[in-house]
Amino acid sequence: MKTVRIRVNGREIEARGGEMLAGALLRAGFKVLRRSPTGAPRSLFCGMGTCFECLVKVNGQWVRSCITPVREGMEVEVEED
Ligand code: FES
Repeated sequence: MKTVRIRVNGREIEARGGEMLAGALLRAGFKVLRRSPTGAPRSLFCGMGTCFECLVKVNGQWVRSCITPVREGMEVEVEED
């Protein structure tokens, strides 16, 4: 499987080509993907695109990271701890 490089909050990480973004983020240590309006940490939940808990920004657009394949050069923003 081809290795691709993406940037997360300005930090470069490696991912496996074709894998979903959520998996790459969790493996890289990003346990919190976003915050609820009350500030509660949110992360992967359903893993199949229905709950929207895994939203992150990719190139400025909100996406569900569990159904978004990684692509070389993605610029990802997560709301870390
Ligand atoms: S984890 Fe539910 S939509 Fe991604």
